[in-house]
Amino acid sequence: MSTYLKELIEKLPENERLLINILNCVQEERGFIPQPLLTELAERTGVPESQLHSLVSFFNSFRTKSAGKHRICVCYGTACYARGAPLIYDRLADELELDDGDDTSPDGLVTVEKVYCVGACNQAPLIVEDGQIKGKIKSYQVPFLIKELRKKDQDGRNE
Ligand code: FES
Repeated sequence: MSTYLKELIEKLPENERLLINILNCVQEERGFIPQPLLTELAERTGVPESQLHSLVSFFNSFRTKSAGKHRICVCYGTACYARGAPLIYDRLADELELDDGDDTSPDGLVTVEKVYCVGACNQAPLIVEDGQIKGKIKSYQVPFLIKELRKKDQDGRNE
């Protein structure tokens, strides 16, 4: 067993050494659950790897790939959906060159997620960019938003 996994399990009180707690710790510490760690966990616990994959994919809070530097959530609640959320999402996917089924741009800049009603329906359709709500978004504004993010990122690297 890797030192990382051994130490992580030993940090947990014995009665809390449950798979879900171990996975939570890994997610919290690394930001995602790497495939080799799932394989190792399956070997150690005897739980089939396929079951671990099911567990990880069941919970939205678990990721199996590292996330981008920035996070954009597109609200897919009823009000936002009716006012164009799918157009915004598709435009983001195009602009960021997201591969089918992938949520993070190949350059690692942005992770795009769908969320359901963030409680600001009067601003529909909206996105949440790094925790900040941007309301009444139009799909044609997406390239500008991404350009701004790239510029912010570039400026941050030059400082
Ligand atoms: S549906 Fe988007 S904030 Fe409520």
